[in-house]
Amino acid sequence: MKVNEKSPLQIERALYQPKIPEALKGPVTLKEGEATTSVADQEIIQKLFPNTYGQRLISFQPVDKQPETPIVNVGVILSGGQAPGGHNVIAGLFDGLKKMHPENKLYGFLGGPSGLVEHKYIELTKEIIDEYRNTGGFDIIGSGRTKLEEPEQFDKGAVICHKLNINAIVIIGGDDSNTNACILAEYYAQKKEGIQVIGCPKTIDGDLKNEMIETSFGFDTACKVYSELIGNIQRDANSSKKYYHFIRLMGRSASHIALECALQTHPNLCIISEEVEAKKMTLRDIVNQIAKLIAARAKEGYNFGSILVPEGLIEFIPEVKILINELNDLLAHNGVFNAIPNDDGRRQYVLQHLSPESAVVFESLPLSIGKQLMLDRDPHGNVQVSLIETEKLLIEMTKYRLAEMKARGEYKGKFQAVNHFFGYEGRCATPSNFDADYCYSLGNVASALIAHGKTGYLTTVRNLVKPASEWIAGGVPITMMMNIERRHGKEKPVIKKALVDLNGAPFKFFEQHRDDWAKGNKHYIFPGPIQYGGSAGVCDQPTKTLLLEHEEQE
Ligand code: FBP
Repeated sequence: MKVNEKSPLQIERALYQPKIPEALKGPVTLKEGEATTSVADQEIIQKLFPNTYGQRLISFQPVDKQPETPIVNVGVILSGGQAPGGHNVIAGLFDGLKKMHPENKLYGFLGGPSGLVEHKYIELTKEIIDEYRNTGGFDIIGSGRTKLEEPEQFDKGAVICHKLNINAIVIIGGDDSNTNACILAEYYAQKKEGIQVIGCPKTIDGDLKNEMIETSFGFDTACKVYSELIGNIQRDANSSKKYYHFIRLMGRSASHIALECALQTHPNLCIISEEVEAKKMTLRDIVNQIAKLIAARAKEGYNFGSILVPEGLIEFIPEVKILINELNDLLAHNGVFNAIPNDDGRRQYVLQHLSPESAVVFESLPLSIGKQLMLDRDPHGNVQVSLIETEKLLIEMTKYRLAEMKARGEYKGKFQAVNHFFGYEGRCATPSNFDADYCYSLGNVASALIAHGKTGYLTTVRNLVKPASEWIAGGVPITMMMNIERRHGKEKPVIKKALVDLNGAPFKFFEQHRDDWAKGNKHYIFPGPIQYGGSAGVCDQPTKTLLLEHEEQE
């Protein structure tokens, strides 16, 4: 038997032609809209970004003839966590540049933002790009989480850009990476380096969205992959009828992924961190809620079910949030703490330096969770929530609570739990048609923004619930999305993260139906795998979140 180097799907997917907005099919011209201001803290942000603040919204419209544009060389960087479709952004950028001028060149900086600083790069040729069209992953050039924030890093970046005649850098990243893209754009503009910086909205977490960005790329595919798995698990639970499955879902702080998966699969319970915070629920309240649900289902004769837990839950439980903020400030660049050689010593140090209230909370958590909370922050100062096993914590506490209820005659049933964490399973999946199309369009838009001399912009493709031909391409100044937040113990300008809106249509829909989903076993939905070929109704559907948000706005 001949061993194929590629699967049949890979071979077929390589031939897929992404659908793009009508306006991007030929030459485009730029239309400027209203001038912008930042979402909050306008005065401070204007001062920090004198060259890139207040720029106008942009949309692209078709024209008959491609305007003459000078030859450009562009560098591209993949930043942060993988998200399906990143390769198509690069392919769209490459094709857009080559369409404008066959001599335009694209360089890829290797291993994330550090590639720019350390001068590690490759030229991306047609052969390389063709290998990666419509594939998942970021392996074409690799990604990394190095934070671009120091002038020395920017200066080193400028050196390599000048050496390669690079006129523009495209940073494909989430909220933190695009914040840094804006800082870099401002720095190069101030120093008149002649290097434009354009960002692209990436992250499976779905939290880089606002009135101009309808969704970040990767969210669609990741949620579809996780929903397939949840559906399969629900089918298994309903077959053997003996396990409660606690499924933690990636998404860092925001619960968008958990909510979208709940909308796709109708689990018995889905915790939404933003609701926990709004209702000021304690860890005990959450466990009581789970235990009550299990006891109620046991009365109906169901000793199995599905419970979705957002990755960032722990950070939203008010008392734990205060604890984490104190830990963030305490542990930021803390040489004394870092020099303590063992876990017990570190725990004692932390306990001595926390406020009395937070020390009580810290002590009440299992040792393993306390240890996970003390782990290194990521380079942006975030707790690495993917390493905190909240689902196991909830299982243990629920067991304990159910035993208490049993002793009081409030629960008669059998509780066996299985824990899961879905994150890395979906981040590099082959992009859905939606993400393949959306990303290719975003890359194309980046080339158009560059050709029109723009800097400090994020690419936008909107009207996403409509067929791709009706999508609207453009750009939004990054400063428009900024506010001031506390990071690493300091006030910093950052892109405002979009958390789940408890008044928004997706949450409202979930709220209306969740009591029905809590009961019985007839409501489960089994979405099955992502389909890449077949009717548009099956293959090109956007997320439920996008559809509900769109209905709300109509
Ligand atoms: P980005 O925000 O960089 O896109 O990362 C998303 C994410 O997958 C989160 O959902 C998760 O908490 C984190 O990355 C995991 O980080 P790492 O890739 O370093 O394990």
